[in-house]
Amino acid sequence: MSPSMIAPVVEEENNIYHKGVKHLCDNGLTKVPTKYVWPEPDRPILTKSDKLTKPKQNLKLPIIDFAELLGPNRSHVLQTIAKACETYGFFQVVNHGMEGDVSRNMIEVCKKFFELPYEERSKYMTSDMTAPVRYGTSFNQNKDNVFCWRDFLKLYAHPLPDYLPYWPSSPSDFRSLAATYATETKEMFEMMVKAIMESLEIDGDSDEVTEELKEGSQMVVVNCYPPCPEPELTLGMPPHSDYGFLTLLLQDDVEGLQILYRDEWVTVDPIPGSFVINVGDHLEIFSNGRYKSVLHRVLVNSTKPRISVASLHSFPLTSVVKPSTKLIDEHNPPQYMDTNFATFLQYISTREPKWKNFLESRKIHHLK
Ligand code: OGA
Ligand code: NI
Repeated sequence: MSPSMIAPVVEEENNIYHKGVKHLCDNGLTKVPTKYVWPEPDRPILTKSDKLTKPKQNLKLPIIDFAELLGPNRSHVLQTIAKACETYGFFQVVNHGMEGDVSRNMIEVCKKFFELPYEERSKYMTSDMTAPVRYGTSFNQNKDNVFCWRDFLKLYAHPLPDYLPYWPSSPSDFRSLAATYATETKEMFEMMVKAIMESLEIDGDSDEVTEELKEGSQMVVVNCYPPCPEPELTLGMPPHSDYGFLTLLLQDDVEGLQILYRDEWVTVDPIPGSFVINVGDHLEIFSNGRYKSVLHRVLVNSTKPRISVASLHSFPLTSVVKPSTKLIDEHNPPQYMDTNFATFLQYISTREPKWKNFLESRKIHHLK
């Protein structure tokens, strides 16, 4: 066949993949297309260090009872938060104040959104990263060579009145349920920031930063991972760290999230109604490396669809992100260059934000 005959076929195939995994699966599938097959070392069953299949190991992340933060146990809980952010970069939160109905409704209405006909969902497809609503697939679909088994809906959420009119109008109760969810998550984030600041023991530098974060950005990312016929060949999300300050993740009851802990991928046990909180790149910088923005990835499975909702919170676009002056002295020099959101966005438009590329690029390497 001449090249001119092959090209349209390849293009046609790629078009299919750009429509997303949900669309692909709805049309029936018994094998994972090559487009989604990851190179062997990156596949799920292998561990990073020794490339051997190991029995599955689940991780019990530290569980923070938020109600206890308001009681006599506060200082103990703060210590647990500090330890978790240093050791895992992750913790789970229960008794966080969000009613079970709010999170359950959010998961349900998101499920319904992804069950809408492709034509309805595709109204929100765009390559414009600044669009208030963006529907898409994989991780960075315009750059990824190998695709991830994931479709997503990204919603800018703060200030809410600016963005709400652009959110999907179908299902009919999507906007109201998602708006309640976004507002309550934002409140939870603000409580979390107070606790994090206190756990860093940086009185004096935290008020201004806390205020900035209140006015900062919020993006709600709904992830949809359809069942996959050969889950051992692919990933729902590649290893990455989250760029913001904190991520508040709600998962349904299907496991899939793994974090890198002591060079091994360990699965996070879902606790119904809880939130998984993780340190983002901006908090790692702000804490001058004390709190860790840890790599994580998502596995898929062959039987159960999985939905997760990640709420990413950070500074306003123009803020400078830098180590807290309270955590720096002559013995503790800054470990990171000052950065801002705009720099980050510029960075990801030219490179893939996989692994910890961005954070690495901001690191100052001191001579010992
Ligand atoms: C993310 C993320 C994990 C999950 O959206 O950044 O890491 O379990 N999600 O979907
Ligand atoms: Ni993430």
